[in-house]
Amino acid sequence: MEIDKATYQAISNRIGALFGFYYAEKNYAEMLRCVQEAAKVVQKSTEPEKILLWLSSTPLSNADAASLAKHLTIGETYFFREKPALDLFSEKIIPELLEQRKGKNQRIRIWSAGCSSGEEPYTLAIMLREMIPHLDQWKIDLVATDLNLAAIQKALGGCYTPWSFRETPAYIKEKYFVKKGNLFEISDVIKNMVQFSTLNLITARFPSPENNTNQLDMIFCRNVLMYLKPENIKAISAKFRESLVEGGWFITSQVELNDSYFGNFSRKTYKSGIFYRKEDLSAKVATVDSKDFKSKNRLIRSKKDVISPAKTRSRISTGISAVIEKPKAFNAASVRSIKDLFSAAKYADCIQLCQVQMEKAPSIDTGIILIKSYANLGNLKQARHWCDKLIKVNGSSAELYYLNAFILEDQNEPLLAEKNLTKALYLQPNHLPSLFAMGNILRRNQKKQQAVNYYQQLIQQLDLMSDEYIIDDFDGLTAGRLREMTQTMMQS
Ligand SMILES: C[S@@+](CC[C@H](N)C(=O)[O-])C[C@H]1O[C@@H](n2cnc3c(N)ncnc32)[C@H](O)[C@@H]1O
Repeated sequence: MEIDKATYQAISNRIGALFGFYYAEKNYAEMLRCVQEAAKVVQKSTEPEKILLWLSSTPLSNADAASLAKHLTIGETYFFREKPALDLFSEKIIPELLEQRKGKNQRIRIWSAGCSSGEEPYTLAIMLREMIPHLDQWKIDLVATDLNLAAIQKALGGCYTPWSFRETPAYIKEKYFVKKGNLFEISDVIKNMVQFSTLNLITARFPSPENNTNQLDMIFCRNVLMYLKPENIKAISAKFRESLVEGGWFITSQVELNDSYFGNFSRKTYKSGIFYRKEDLSAKVATVDSKDFKSKNRLIRSKKDVISPAKTRSRISTGISAVIEKPKAFNAASVRSIKDLFSAAKYADCIQLCQVQMEKAPSIDTGIILIKSYANLGNLKQARHWCDKLIKVNGSSAELYYLNAFILEDQNEPLLAEKNLTKALYLQPNHLPSLFAMGNILRRNQKKQQAVNYYQQLIQQLDLMSDEYIIDDFDGLTAGRLREMTQTMMQS
């Protein structure tokens, strides 16, 4: 059935008002599919016009809102995610607080906002338990909230598949989890440290003692705001500031850094990451505290972020740019289902299907999805194997070199990664993801001027696009958002 743009827009606006999500036109069909799934669960009509009426009914019942939240959010997460933030937490923030408050007010207050199924707050709880010798003498408030009730229920259950542990040191898994069939259950000692509840960042009242969102020492809100509308991000940023004590920290993921949203905080560099801190804004001039923070001028995006396992909307997209050879018996239907599996983050199933397809009718489209699926499952060895294999067959795909670069970067081979990006840009001088990645690698390796050249080239290309344009092969990022991120990198 043909759906007119106005209906799509109206549905998108309603969802924006309810949850803050931003959808580019390119994603309207996928958005509607998710809303229809949510509608089915609560026995509502799936006809677009009726959906619009349903979304406009105020207030939505809790069950309706929960179903929508479940189907529209991306809950990808894992324990010990993004080392830079965890280094800051364990090496800087906590030691400082312990020092300041020892023997006085022995209390630490943390909020994990958008905690999904709990891996983030549980990671913090484990770290605190590992770091603080007499933890029972401290009052730890670790509040964890999410829009998605189903995610909170999973967090409360505390059982995780091995995939949640892809960055977890073996001894931690051994010490704090018990195997239960195919799952690992978190120990009560950690479970009891975290208070979970649902909270919609768009509609909730905070700071407030009622939901424990006041007088906080730090807020972790990583990989959450990136999908929200700019006006919502700004409003949340202002409220977060109010929720923090003076000197409190606001920690986003490294791909979300953006001074136009978070300019109400001071920017602080620690190791390879940049973080926000609540300070008296009149003293904001010095953003890098050179005494405490040794800026190594590294890549802003963490390696793990560049190819981190996530659904398409958040990390590796299915965007496919070139075909090596015309597949002999090209089966469009199965490629479509491969893409669907990939979009649904069913990477293991996707790999199986891709492999069958690669035997029957090899194509770069399928190969690239196979590589991304392996990368998203953390199996970089296989991802690299397939990259090498495909590059041998056809060395003219910029995207293959780009993917290879990220795998190599993740495997700690920055020079080889740089070479691959050079090759990608030789093949396709305006391959935007490669320009961005090249800037980042050079920046991280202290070649700031060269990095700026690539960033400038990237911005020139982005200036030719509308802000809403969704960039191919780039996690669903819009041109506007990428421009902002690039500008932040250039300035820092
Ligand atoms: C990708 S997960 C991030 C989990 C974790 N912070 C991390 O970085 O691993 C994003 C989470 O944000 C939540 N979220 C999205 N919009 C939200 C909103 N308006 N209010 C509260 N949570 C929201 C989603 O439900 C989802 O669980």
